[in-house]
Amino acid sequence: MDIKKGDILELQVEKLAYGGRGLAYKNKMAIFVEQSMPGDIVEARIFRVKKNFAEATFLRVIEPSPYRITPPCPYSGYCGGCKWQFIRYDKQLEYKRLFVEELLYHIGRTEEFRIHPPVPSFKEFGHRNKMEFSFSDKRWLYPEEMSKGVESNDIALGLHVPGTFNKVIDIERCLLQPETGNDILQAVREFIKGSKVPVYGLKSHEGFWRYLMLRHSYYFDEWMVNIVTNGQKDFIVQEMASTLNKKFERIFSIVNNINSRKGGTAFGEMEKVISGKRAIQDKIGPFIFEISANSFFQTNTPTAEKLYQVVKDFSHLSGKEVVLNLYCGTGTDSIILAPDASRVIGIDISESAIANAKRNCELNNIDNCEFLCGDVKTALSQINTRIDILVTDPPRAGMHKKVVDKIVSMLPEKIIYISCNPATLARDVSLMSDTYRVKEVLPVDLFPHTYHIESIVKLEKI
Ligand SMILES: C[S@@+](CC[C@H](N)C(=O)[O-])C[C@H]1O[C@@H](n2cnc3c(N)ncnc32)[C@H](O)[C@@H]1O
Repeated sequence: MDIKKGDILELQVEKLAYGGRGLAYKNKMAIFVEQSMPGDIVEARIFRVKKNFAEATFLRVIEPSPYRITPPCPYSGYCGGCKWQFIRYDKQLEYKRLFVEELLYHIGRTEEFRIHPPVPSFKEFGHRNKMEFSFSDKRWLYPEEMSKGVESNDIALGLHVPGTFNKVIDIERCLLQPETGNDILQAVREFIKGSKVPVYGLKSHEGFWRYLMLRHSYYFDEWMVNIVTNGQKDFIVQEMASTLNKKFERIFSIVNNINSRKGGTAFGEMEKVISGKRAIQDKIGPFIFEISANSFFQTNTPTAEKLYQVVKDFSHLSGKEVVLNLYCGTGTDSIILAPDASRVIGIDISESAIANAKRNCELNNIDNCEFLCGDVKTALSQINTRIDILVTDPPRAGMHKKVVDKIVSMLPEKIIYISCNPATLARDVSLMSDTYRVKEVLPVDLFPHTYHIESIVKLEKI
């Protein structure tokens, strides 16, 4: 029997594929199904058929896996924020570890290496220190509402339906952030509804209020509110700030990013401090870091602290080494390693990240770090000193082949690769496999209820 679009099938899910979907087989055809896990028997409708695989929409569970649980969040199943809430947390960790291990063996062309059990998130919920909510002039309607003919005439402030740019679920409470974040979310929604200033339409590109970004400093309990708007209306933004400041004594910074571009990003062309400080501070180990609205900071602070500790342990510095830290961001790895190194050189493309990195060194009395601002691909040619240890922490896309080639030609004794994407990690490791061997791998779960996993890999020269 050929599998066709529209077929409704009963499927026995065998595996989880990297990307988070369940994988089942029918007539030797691989079929991917969202919201399913190994051990489930589900009913699913085929929506795409390719030569070697098909994709199906989950309809219902016929027989659940013993590790399937009822998600605590009412938006689960619709919201793109976290798609794995239905999987028991210890099982999530097991699947994530398998992703890293299998990708490193199959794509990374690695031989035997030691993989440690994943470090779990310090909390299963309330762990995120940064959330970005979108405004929409039309609240997304649930399938039941649509079938009853309900019309959307309300605004939304919340998270997107996965894979959509214009479907925003109105979220009252997101379990990923600390409770105060939810109170701020509610207060902003109430203010904006009463403000008489329109919300941005994701199709019309008209309207004012675009995004609400909340940041929280775990150690100092400071909140930052970043309101992203299409254009500038100081009066109303000031009024919102004073309403919030009256209600929340832990808000230490309110900034307004002004973004009139059509693209869906919360980054502004201009940032104005509306009240309080331009940046909040958080701590990793004994070090203090300044975090401004648009700077990169790991989103799960106490778990990230464990990650940086592992980077330190894997580096095993004696005080004499020169460390090169690629994609250094605001200098977190550089600063944590600096007291045990003779010199640390950090490179990052973002001017503001490099400015933050320098400021963070001052804040922590670190004087043996220097930073280069530029694309790693070209900036590496400016390094003409011997490198003992290379620490790299690229974005999800991994490293450009030219960067990998250059690293290999520099021949550091050890490479510590921090990655939030095991697929690109494995690809880059395979490109180095003639010269470097993977020795140890430690996954760290910064992102519960998603298929994402951070890994730290120690590679040594063969
Ligand atoms: C995953 S973050 C790592 C940040 C930092 N290591 C930390 O833990 O806070 C990736 C960093 O890569 C930087 N980046 C992205 N593309 C780059 C490129 N082509 N050259 C240099 N830096 C780049 C980004 O600005 C960002 O700071």
